[in-house]
Amino acid sequence: MIDNYKIITITHKSADIKDIGKFIIPESNGIPLSSRLEGLKKELSISELLYLPTCNRVMFFFCHEGKINESFLHQFTQNLYPEWDISEALAKFLIYEGKDAIRHLFEVSASVDSLVVGEREIIRQLREAYHKCNQEGLTGDSIRLAMDATVRTAKQIYADTKIGEKQVSVVSLAIKKLLEAGVSNNQRVLIVGAGQTNLLVCKFLKKHGFSNISVFNRTLTKAEELSNLVGGSAFHLSELENYSKGFDCMVVCTGAVEPVINKKIYSQLLQGEKDKKVIVDLAIPNNVSKEVVSSSDIDYIEIEGLKVLAKENMAFRTKEVTIAKKIIATTLKDFKSLYAERQLEKAFHQMPKEIKAVKTKAINEVFKKEVEDLDEETKDLMERMLSYMEKKCIGIPMKVAKSTILP
Ligand SMILES: NC(=O)c1ccc[n+]([C@@H]2O[C@H](COP(=O)([O-])OP(=O)(O)OC[C@H]3O[C@@H](n4cnc5c(N)ncnc54)[C@H](OP(=O)(O)O)[C@@H]3O)[C@@H](O)[C@H]2O)c1
Repeated sequence: MIDNYKIITITHKSADIKDIGKFIIPESNGIPLSSRLEGLKKELSISELLYLPTCNRVMFFFCHEGKINESFLHQFTQNLYPEWDISEALAKFLIYEGKDAIRHLFEVSASVDSLVVGEREIIRQLREAYHKCNQEGLTGDSIRLAMDATVRTAKQIYADTKIGEKQVSVVSLAIKKLLEAGVSNNQRVLIVGAGQTNLLVCKFLKKHGFSNISVFNRTLTKAEELSNLVGGSAFHLSELENYSKGFDCMVVCTGAVEPVINKKIYSQLLQGEKDKKVIVDLAIPNNVSKEVVSSSDIDYIEIEGLKVLAKENMAFRTKEVTIAKKIIATTLKDFKSLYAERQLEKAFHQMPKEIKAVKTKAINEVFKKEVEDLDEETKDLMERMLSYMEKKCIGIPMKVAKSTILP
């Protein structure tokens, strides 16, 4: 039933961006995500699960037969965040069930629900999250069906509306702020992390003519790829604490859940320089320690602070959001039919086998004696007639069901 689709999520609309980071499930080296989530599935009778962490939301999209009531939410929180005060967590959750869950998924994928409406990163993140959960055996046929429809909806919205026009993203807004802070393209820039976000950062820096860039990353080859893009230097992350060339601006963005830039590393990086520095910290949770932020002379640019720019961006796209929501209303209706049809297909999956078994039983058991008395020619005709009936009968129930049951 479509009612089985559920979403529990924490978004920039229900919590501060800083708090969202606390809901991210830390990835430990080599330990698959499924080892954290399989227990949750079992305990709460969740048949399929997709987990999506981004910089403005943590979302659990799943299939479960019952209602999401208080006891479910208590168990959910206790399982995933055992150290938490449950009422604090519950106050930040948004819950969607059935068609509302699918509608929310569509809105997320088309960036209608994003902090920066119109950013296209979300559809890549959603696809990657699905791929990962699918590979780890957490998802199944129902989530696959919903994901296919989600990608189709997002594509249609990006194609048929101007929602993604004049492309914006968290990164483009951060770069705007960085330039407004007076960082010029001949200054020294440190890039910490070499994932998708810093790849975008580097593309912008290149476009603006920045040339003095040093990239640090846990995996050196990825730092090298990024530094090649911008004509800079590459270093392993561990070399950060020995780096002695100073900096003017630093962009930090890794998937680490603990600060990467602490007081000790920051002091080393300063090399005794006293002028104001610009730090862009796009990670959720933040990668620069609170101590560094509060005790240093810095212009600190983080996602929370981009909300004002994000609101201006939203004003520009309001009309497009209305059109996008209309498209979603139609694709949601289509999805309901598609889902019902799929359930029928699954239910009728056994039909051919069962009809064949009836035929075999008729010949070999029920009418065995009569069949034995037939001559070869009649036997052959009878078998051909039964096979013809068998093939024709398979399609009839499906056809009747489609015309009478489907919406
Ligand atoms: N994508 C966006 O639109 C967007 C926008 C704003 C903010 N963010 C935030 O940016 C952060 C990174 O996102 P992403 O999309 O760039 O991720 P990504 O493409 O998966 O890259 C993750 C990066 O973090 C590094 N990393 C992961 N765990 C680490 C650890 N424990 N210690 C040190 N380095 C670690 C990875 O190093 P390896 O190369 O060694 O794996 C890689 O450089 C997240 O907090 C995300 O919420 C993303």
